[in-house]
Amino acid sequence: MVGTTCPTCVTVGCMEITPCTSDEDYEHWRRVRIAVIPYERTQSVAELRAGDTPERLLLLARDDRTVVGHGLAQRSDSTGAGSVIPRVLPEHRRRGVGTALLERLTAHVAGLGLDTVRGTADDDGALAFAHRFGFVEVNREVEQTYVVTAPPDVAPLPEGVEVVTARERPELWGACFERFGREALAGFAVDTPLDVSLERWKRDWLGDPMFLAVHDGEVVGCAGLGLDSDTPSRAENSLTAVRGDWRGRGLAVHLKQRTLAWAADHGVTEVYTWTQDGNAAMRTLNTRLGYATTRVGVQLSRETRWA
Ligand SMILES: CC(C)(COP(=O)(O)OP(=O)(O)OC[C@H]1O[C@@H](n2cnc3c(N)ncnc32)[C@H](O)[C@@H]1OP(=O)(O)O)[C@@H](O)C(=O)NCCC(=O)NCCS
Repeated sequence: MVGTTCPTCVTVGCMEITPCTSDEDYEHWRRVRIAVIPYERTQSVAELRAGDTPERLLLLARDDRTVVGHGLAQRSDSTGAGSVIPRVLPEHRRRGVGTALLERLTAHVAGLGLDTVRGTADDDGALAFAHRFGFVEVNREVEQTYVVTAPPDVAPLPEGVEVVTARERPELWGACFERFGREALAGFAVDTPLDVSLERWKRDWLGDPMFLAVHDGEVVGCAGLGLDSDTPSRAENSLTAVRGDWRGRGLAVHLKQRTLAWAADHGVTEVYTWTQDGNAAMRTLNTRLGYATTRVGVQLSRETRWA
């Protein structure tokens, strides 16, 4: 039995939902994410801590002191929306834990003054849960995966362009936000325009390694990886983008192949990437490079206050 009304939460069978505060809580939070979505990179405790803001809420659900689920609520990159993610360990599902987490998470988003709440579902169970609570599909994302067997040939770089890493030139990423970043974010095939601050651009959108194509001192393209210390053989592509006036010259192919060559040289055997279903250019490019479609994620939305 679970319930949210137990005042002390020491009763056997009592569920308790609490915000993450200690490093131990953060590590529990990570373990739930890794167990529920083992196919995606999970941030380290240090990264989670670095992303702490008053607007973000990380929750743990415990039943009789055993961690059974977790939650995340924060301002979304989509304009005017918050995002919520309840996750429950498979052996503890269908007992109301997800419902209790969702209530706490949406209350947090309401407290941020945001009228819309967004979520995602990667499987039929999560989709049924989301529909039960009034979410409707607004978009789809496709996961594509590249199996690294050997470093691919790297196509030539357009004349006048050099490639550096963000580690070599750390000042470039923040500096390219206005001219390059804003255009790249505005081009996403999403139902609601993105609203990403410079701070979030610097914190959430930079890969490592991140290859930056530079012309006349300005970033005109990027591609890179997010490495996974829990599963070092897998890495996720970070943002791939080419500035509008540099498209059609093979820059994206060069940058992605260079990224895949780096992966091959560093023991990464699988590189995966999530792309909006409507972004035909990126999906086609990935297919041409040898990526296969491996998963579909449904993006969902509803009004924050829902009855
Ligand atoms: C989605 C998830 C959080 C649900 O957690 P849960 O604790 O099992 O959910 P609840 O017990 O509170 O379910 C409430 C209701 O949602 C619906 N529901 C939940 N899971 C369902 C499933 N697999 N199939 C059909 N309906 C389902 C049912 O109406 C259920 O009520 P019922 O059990 O009385 O029929 C859990 O399956 C999960 O962690 N999935 C993976 C992570 C994820 O995708 N989370 C984001 C969802 S937006």
